[in-house]
Amino acid sequence: MTSKEKFYLTTPIYYVNDEPHIGHAYTTIAADVLARYHRLLGHDVFFLTGTDEHGQKVAQAAAKRNVPPQQHADETVVRFQALWKKLGISNDDFVRTTEDRHKRVVQAVLQELQDKKELYTGSYEGWYCLPDERFWTEKDLVDGKCPDCGRPVEHLSEQNYFFKMGQYQDRLRQYIRDHPDFIRPESRRNEVLGFLEKPLTDLSISRPKSRLPWGIEFPFDPNYVTYVWIDALVNYISIPGYATDPARFQKWWPADLHLVGKDILTTHAVYWSTILMALGLPLPKTLFAHGWWTLNAQKMSKSLGNVVHPGDVIEKYGVDPFRYFLFREVPFGQDGDFSETALINRINSDLANDLGNLLSRTLTMLERYTGGRTPPAHEGKQAEDLDLRRKMEALPARVDVLLARLEFQKVLIEIWDAVNQANRYIEGAAPWVLAKDPAKAERLQTVLYHTAEALRIVTLFVSPFMPATALEMARQMGLPSLFEGISLKEAAQWGRLPAEQPIAKGKSLFPRIEKKTEKTLEKEPTAAAPTPTEKAPAEKKSAPASPAGFKPAIPYDDFAKIDLRVAVILAAEKVSGSKKLLKLRVTLGSEERQVVAGIGTKYAPEALIGKRIVLVANLQPAKIMGVESQGMLLAAGAEEVLELATFLEEIPPGTRIK
Ligand code: MSP
Repeated sequence: MTSKEKFYLTTPIYYVNDEPHIGHAYTTIAADVLARYHRLLGHDVFFLTGTDEHGQKVAQAAAKRNVPPQQHADETVVRFQALWKKLGISNDDFVRTTEDRHKRVVQAVLQELQDKKELYTGSYEGWYCLPDERFWTEKDLVDGKCPDCGRPVEHLSEQNYFFKMGQYQDRLRQYIRDHPDFIRPESRRNEVLGFLEKPLTDLSISRPKSRLPWGIEFPFDPNYVTYVWIDALVNYISIPGYATDPARFQKWWPADLHLVGKDILTTHAVYWSTILMALGLPLPKTLFAHGWWTLNAQKMSKSLGNVVHPGDVIEKYGVDPFRYFLFREVPFGQDGDFSETALINRINSDLANDLGNLLSRTLTMLERYTGGRTPPAHEGKQAEDLDLRRKMEALPARVDVLLARLEFQKVLIEIWDAVNQANRYIEGAAPWVLAKDPAKAERLQTVLYHTAEALRIVTLFVSPFMPATALEMARQMGLPSLFEGISLKEAAQWGRLPAEQPIAKGKSLFPRIEKKTEKTLEKEPTAAAPTPTEKAPAEKKSAPASPAGFKPAIPYDDFAKIDLRVAVILAAEKVSGSKKLLKLRVTLGSEERQVVAGIGTKYAPEALIGKRIVLVANLQPAKIMGVESQGMLLAAGAEEVLELATFLEEIPPGTRIK
């Protein structure tokens, strides 16, 4: 029997001195996407995150609040745990460094290093960066400040335990050279190699209790506590069972991936690697350092008051759009600037327009042409059928290669490429036209099958990024157990769509977001309110005579009473008992309306979804064949509808028309 492939991945453990912010969420969601993907592949996944609760920063934060550090940690940790829950994080364990199971292992590691003569006591004189909790020598400083964060440093002199880190310099350098995948991306690998060009000093790994009591006590010297970085790094081995559960440890170590932000790369690449070498343990397979998020090109910081709180973002825009945005907007290794406008654009275009519409129009068609059930397999022979199928068949391998490289953005581009191809396929094949011709019934079924099968495969790949959305998509498609006990490689094969499943079309996945600029638009003088100069000609009763067949001229004021707005069609269905009438749900950005329109002979309901139309927004509501209509839309054609008035550009819903 072959055992399942394992995948052990970690996030940094977060300091409990602060509230969780977008940076913490970024790393954690990235890890979650990977964990979910590997689980879908059928791998045995261990996804570890947690909190870093010792050290000076936490002690200071607690002192500021006038509470003991443990109480401070207990009160703050829940914020992280609650946020991870809201964000759908599927971690398998959550480590707190104040837990016994962790502290015991830190002490065992220190004892082992001491026994192996990897430690010595020495006196330290140098410069200390308090916020980073790191010592620097005089020549490390840049303009007298911390070379890492640029903040002021203070002079310190004290006795400490040192780890003989310097002796591992050559070995580490060689290891990094021999293992191109160890530190990624490439630029960061070069950065570490550059750092290792300078002599590597030994590392002070203790803090005198007299100066800092909040830490894990040295097992062989009660006057000292462990330097918080050593304490924290050990979490990666304490939780999978180092020194306590050899079989478990053997199963998980080495980690497949440590995800970190670029600011904590050195501590991982150098301190952690050399400690592992001293313990005689293999190094993690990959250490990936991602970039930083800024806000309006500025570093986020509490003092600037420009920290993006994930809780606020998801409250306003939802969890999955946030998860999608973080990875679609910026390549993972690079810095990115957070912008609400960019987030709204992504929601409206990629999510509502592309993905949301694909689901909604597919289900509308299944409702109408297959009796609301998933269609049985039909092998398409036309070029567009084969193209769509090929696209879907190529997707799994593309995603696999790109995710292995943590190229989240490219993965999403690939998936959306498939989504858009499916949308184009529908438009090209025009099932609503096929449906009118009984001779094309077979072709219609083939098109519907291809559409539904493409959508099913897309749903599988969307799920690591937007798990709740994917579940809802599967549910609406009549495939509630799409994700149960699957192995992605098989499930994603073309042709696995179960036939005859009753679909359950529901609410649209992503309601469009009104852009902030629209609110400003509303504050501007309304387009319909005429300026005096505009008013003048209308008041003169010298309007040109109406050409034959036109209605008689009206004063401008009469026209100004009509409130015309851009609206987007969200859903459409036939009014029962009528050939001509369709019941539409449209959005004006700030509100949704139900409108009954006599366009059913010209348009199939599913062809309308996503269209931008002109709505007479202030028409008194009326009942048409017993169905309430809150407005009227404009179309060309007197007796017969020829075409709906629409827009060529993406004008936001709610915009006035004059
Ligand atoms: N406790 C240490 C890690 C110990 S791991 C053994 C720590 N904690 S932290 O809470 O300060 O930061 C954790 C992570 O958040 C880091 O990976 C850091 O890069 C990330 N971020 C903090 N601010 C960030 C942004 N503005 N953008 C992206 N990530 C950033 O360091």
